[in-house]
Amino acid sequence: MIVQIQAFDYLTAPASRLVASGGLWAALPRLTRGMPMARLIITADALKPEDVLNGFYEVATPEGYLPPGVMAYRIAYEDHLRAAVREVRYTRLYLTIDADMEADALLNLLGAYSIPAQLLDHELPRPFQRAVAGWETLQAEDGRHLAVLRSRYNQYGGILHPQTLHNLLAQEFPLWIVLQIYTYTQPEAMRLLRLKGAMAQYSQDRNEETRHEAATAAGGVQAVRDALARGEALHAVSLYVVVDGPDKATVNHRATIVQSTAGLEMERLYGTGTLLAELFSAEIRPSGTLTGTWSEGTPLTTGGVALLVGSAMSYRRRTETRGVMLGIDRNQSPVVLNLFNDRNPSYNTVILGQTGSGKTFATLLLMMRHLLMGVRLIIVDPQGNIDLPFLGEEVYQRNLVGTSRATVNVLDIVHEELGSQVELALSMLRMLGVWRDGDALARALLDAALVNLYKPVWGQTDALSPTLAELQAVLRSMPVSTPSLQEVRDRLVVMLDIYVQGSQRELFGRTSIDFNLDHALTVFDVSRLPQQGMAGGLRSAFLSILVANINQGIRRRRLQGDRAPILFFVDEMGILMRDAVMAEYISSEYKTARARLVGMIVADQDLHSLLGPRDEKGLHHGIPILANAANTLIFNQKDSERARVREYFPGLPEVLVDALPILPRGTCVASLPDDLLVVNVVPTQLERIVFSSRLQDREMARRIVQRLQSELEVMG
Ligand SMILES: Nc1ncnc2c1ncn2[C@@H]1O[C@H](COP(=O)(O)OP(=O)(O)OP(=O)(O)O)[C@@H](O)[C@H]1O
Ligand SMILES: [Mg+2]
Repeated sequence: MIVQIQAFDYLTAPASRLVASGGLWAALPRLTRGMPMARLIITADALKPEDVLNGFYEVATPEGYLPPGVMAYRIAYEDHLRAAVREVRYTRLYLTIDADMEADALLNLLGAYSIPAQLLDHELPRPFQRAVAGWETLQAEDGRHLAVLRSRYNQYGGILHPQTLHNLLAQEFPLWIVLQIYTYTQPEAMRLLRLKGAMAQYSQDRNEETRHEAATAAGGVQAVRDALARGEALHAVSLYVVVDGPDKATVNHRATIVQSTAGLEMERLYGTGTLLAELFSAEIRPSGTLTGTWSEGTPLTTGGVALLVGSAMSYRRRTETRGVMLGIDRNQSPVVLNLFNDRNPSYNTVILGQTGSGKTFATLLLMMRHLLMGVRLIIVDPQGNIDLPFLGEEVYQRNLVGTSRATVNVLDIVHEELGSQVELALSMLRMLGVWRDGDALARALLDAALVNLYKPVWGQTDALSPTLAELQAVLRSMPVSTPSLQEVRDRLVVMLDIYVQGSQRELFGRTSIDFNLDHALTVFDVSRLPQQGMAGGLRSAFLSILVANINQGIRRRRLQGDRAPILFFVDEMGILMRDAVMAEYISSEYKTARARLVGMIVADQDLHSLLGPRDEKGLHHGIPILANAANTLIFNQKDSERARVREYFPGLPEVLVDALPILPRGTCVASLPDDLLVVNVVPTQLERIVFSSRLQDREMARRIVQRLQSELEVMG
C-alpha cells in the first residue's frame, strides 16, 4: 500500500516532531504482513515565480472588470511577484508499507505517530517508465540518462542530525529518493548482535588500526544492546538516490554532488536490474532482488531511523499558489493565501502586535491584494490615516465618523429581536454614563421607556430608530408612582440632557452615515470620535453602534443577493471588548461571519487588550474571537506577554514564542490553517507609499498611479 504523507517545517516544528515516528518503525514486524519493511519515497521539485503568477490569475478578477486605480495596483502587484518570488525547492513524500490493515486504519495509525497521511491522489512520480541499462548509466526510453546511488553499508555509522538530508533535498536538479527501512525482529536482532560482537572480539590479524576498529565495533554493539534494552528495535536502513540528466556528463556530475551533500556515504550502483522498479513500486514484495539485500543496509537503532526520517520529513516549503501573497517566509517561500479558502473553518483573522510593529500595514496589504480577487473591503480606521483616493470614487468611499455631518445614533436598531435590542441600548446608555451597573430602578425605568420607543416601529423595514431626545421625552412623560422612582427618573432626564442639549448634541441625532456599503472599499475613519478615557465610554459606544450598523448593512446586502466575499477589519479591537454586552455581540457576529461570507479581521496590541475583562464566570470576553480565528498573525510582542501567548497558543513551539519580542517591524509569526510560518511582509513600492501616512508619500503615490495608468493607456 502506498500513501502520501505531509512534510513539516523544521523551523517551526516542535523538536519532538523530528523523532515522533520512531514507534512506527519499531513496530513494523507487528504491523506488516510479510515483510517488516517500509519505504519513504521523496521527490523534489521546484516552485517557480510563474507558478505563483498563474495561481494568482486563477483567482484574480479578470482585468477587463477592473477600474483604472485597481488596475494600476494590480500591475504593481504582478511586477512585484515577478521580482520578489524566488524559485523554491519543495518535496513530496510517499510511504510504501505492507500493512496488515485497511487503508483508513493505516492513515489513523500514521496520524498517531505524527505522520499526517492521505490516500494517493495522483500517480507516484517515478524517475522513468522503462529503462535500459547502459555502460555507466541507465537510459530511460525518452533518452534521459539516470544514475543510481545507495548509502554504503557502514557498521561504524556516521553522525545523524535533524537536517542530515536537507542539503541533498535543496539541490537544484530533480531527485528521486528512497529511504528503505527494514526492522529486525527481536530474535533476529539478538542473533545479529551476537555475531557482530563475536566478530569484533575474535577478528584475526590485529594491528593498531584493526584493534581500534574492533574496539569501536564492540562499543557500538554495546550501545545497540542498551538501546534494545530500552525498547528500541534494530533496523537496516538504505538510502537510494536517483538522478537524471540529458547526457552522461550531467548525470555523472549530479551523482558527484549527491555524494558530497547526502550526509551519508553514498556509492554508485551499476547493473541495477529490476531494483528501481521495485523501489518505486506501490508494494513491498516478499521476493525479488531487494529481499536478498535488505540486511545490507546500515544498522541503525530506532532513534537513529526516526531522526533520519525526521530529517526527510522536515524539509517543507509552502507551495500554495492560489491566492495573494502576504510575504516571504524564512525558507524564502512565497506565503500565498486566500482568506476565503473553503477548507478553512472560518475566514476570520486575529492580528496582534505592539505599536509600530506593522499590523495595520500588513492588514491593509493583505486586504488590498484580496481586492484583486473581487473581495469587498470594509475598514474601521481609528487613527484616521488610511486614505486610498487613487482607487477612484467608483471604488472607494471614506466616511469621517463623529462630525455633525456623519453621525451614528447609539439607539439604532441593529438586532432582530426586541429583547436583545433593548439590552444593547441599555448597554450603550451605561457606556454614556446615563446610568450605572447595579442601579436596578434606573434600569427598570430605562427598560420600560425603550420598549415604549421600539415597540411601535418593531418589525417595520424602513422605520426610523428612536433618538436620545425621544428617549428623554418618553422618560419625562412617564408616570411614576413613588418619590424614589421620581427621583431616579429626574436624574436620568438630567443625564440625557448632556447629549440632547449639551456641547456634543450634534453627535447624538439620527444616523446620517450611509451603510449601504456599495463601494468595493469603504473606510470609516473614527479618529474624530471622542478618545478613550475622555468622557467615559463614549468611544466604545460609538464604535459599537458603528460596527453593529455595518453588520446590518452587510446583512442587507446579502438579502439583496450580493455574494461577493467581504473582509471587515476592525483595528484596535480591545476598545469594543470592554463592555460585556458589546463583547458578546461582537463575539457572536465573529462566530457566525462565515455563514455570511464575511472574513473579520481584528487587530490589537496584545492578548490582554484583545481578550478584554473577565465575565462573571471568569472567562475573558474575547476568547471566542481567538477560538474562531482561522488565521493568527503575531507581530512583535513585549517580553512580558510571553506567558499569556503560551497560555492562549499552546501549540506554538517555544522557539517561536521566544522569538516574538525580537521580531523586527513587518515580520510576524503566522499561524494558518495548514501552516505555521515566520513571515516577512513585503510591500510593493506602491504599497509602501500608499499605506504611509506621510503627506509627501501621498503625493508620490498619486504620481506613481498616474504613471501606471498612462502606461495602461499606451498598452491598451
Ligand atoms: N512590512 C513592512 N514593510 C515596510 N514598512 C512597514 C512594514 N510594516 C510597517 N511598516 C512601516 O511601519 C509603520 C508602522 O506600522 P503600522 O502602522 O502597521 O504599525 P501598527 O502595528 O499598526 O502600530 P499601531 O499599534 O501604533 O497602530 C508603517 O507606517 C510603515 O511605514
Ligand atoms: Mg495600527
